[in-house]
Amino acid sequence: MVSAVLAIDQGTTNTKAVLVDASGAVLAGGSAPVGLSTPRPGWVEQDADELWASVLSAIPSSSAEIVGIALSTQRESVVGWDRRTGAAVGPVIGWQDVRTSGWCSALPAGVDELVRRRTGLRVDAMFSAPKLHWLLAQTSADQVGTIDSWLVHRLTGGREHLTEAGNASRTLLYDIAELAWSPDLLDAFGIPLPVLPEVRPSNAGFGVTSGVPGLRDGIPIVAVLADSHAAMYGQGCVLPGMVKATYGTGSSVMTPVEAFAADGCTLAWLTERPTYALEGNIVSSGAALAWTASLLGLAEVGALVELASTVPSAEGVVLVPAFAGLGAPHWDREARAALTGMSSATTRAHIARAAVDAVAHQICDLVETLPVAERLRGDGGATVSSLLMQTQADLLGRPVEVADVPELSALGAAELAWTTLGQPTGWAERRTYRTFEPATATAAARDDRRAQWAAAVASVTAGAS
Ligand code: G3P
Repeated sequence: MVSAVLAIDQGTTNTKAVLVDASGAVLAGGSAPVGLSTPRPGWVEQDADELWASVLSAIPSSSAEIVGIALSTQRESVVGWDRRTGAAVGPVIGWQDVRTSGWCSALPAGVDELVRRRTGLRVDAMFSAPKLHWLLAQTSADQVGTIDSWLVHRLTGGREHLTEAGNASRTLLYDIAELAWSPDLLDAFGIPLPVLPEVRPSNAGFGVTSGVPGLRDGIPIVAVLADSHAAMYGQGCVLPGMVKATYGTGSSVMTPVEAFAADGCTLAWLTERPTYALEGNIVSSGAALAWTASLLGLAEVGALVELASTVPSAEGVVLVPAFAGLGAPHWDREARAALTGMSSATTRAHIARAAVDAVAHQICDLVETLPVAERLRGDGGATVSSLLMQTQADLLGRPVEVADVPELSALGAAELAWTTLGQPTGWAERRTYRTFEPATATAAARDDRRAQWAAAVASVTAGAS
């Protein structure tokens, strides 16, 4: 019987699960959607039980013997539960949720600086600590965690309360130089240490399955990574100068760095030693495509991209998808979305095209801040769109490489698990890539499009008059 690692990629809007053999081949796969609710403007919640049920539904049936489990999970979102019963208490508060923006702004001077020094991040409602503060104040939860922690808890029949270091690095509570929860940060955000999970290295083992429908008891959870970090691992993006972009509900641009440096640095994973990366997070990319599709009365994003490809350009229309403010590098959570540059000749297709452009422009804003980036490696669901990837190469003025498998987060986690189980891997070197070369007629034409975008962004950010 063939052996497989079951890799589960729990993302914002769906859960995917794949069985991966030791050569990196995907033997079987499944997926299940997960709902999001927005009970109030700026609030984004999920149901913790529904999220767990989506994991169970996504697991494919197969005759392969599952020798280990690998997890790749959405980051920053938090959930709380009752220590005695293991039952979720309150909703999952999603990473897009900005209910704590006001609370964050009112934190004493000095907290932001402390956060930057210890975590490389900045105080923002996207990260876990303010959400945990809210959850602990509003519910009776006495154990909390990010989504990796919740899934490990469920997979182990409630036995383990653990989290992985890369996921912990996104909470604003974990000192990524010391590799430990920071007492100062716990204090600053009012989080008592006993409610938090124990932090483990990415491949240190996270317990074994117990009582999970469809899985035998005793399967080890071998490796856990945060989803964007798992994609970087899967891309084989391990040398400084390599840059990857993951196109999800939001987007994440990451490049490995030699050592921890405050400001934009994050812990990619922790194995025998820590691997650090510079990262920029975009709040709305797949979400911007979905919003525009719905605005235009289209059933799904695929139809939006098709409509966008019927016109050669957006004809000056620019969408700035600041529905919940802007993330990196602008970091203005008060900014609101804008659709500019329309004329009476503007059609639905131009608006669709502006949405595709917006995804690519936001990635450019980040890549352009990085010291070296000769080419960009893309992954995530939206990379199936040749229009988006060509637009990306055109606006960036550099080649964009897309792996032959779009879902690298699950494969990255599976690869770390197989490595940990003692199998030779190096899958990225054997992967083939589609390369999109920049095709914009002139650098001046590219600069014009970038300048139109920059002007539209400036019109919605704090500096706007
Ligand atoms: O930081 C949030 C990110 O981890 C969510 O990923 O793939 O669900 O957009 P995704």
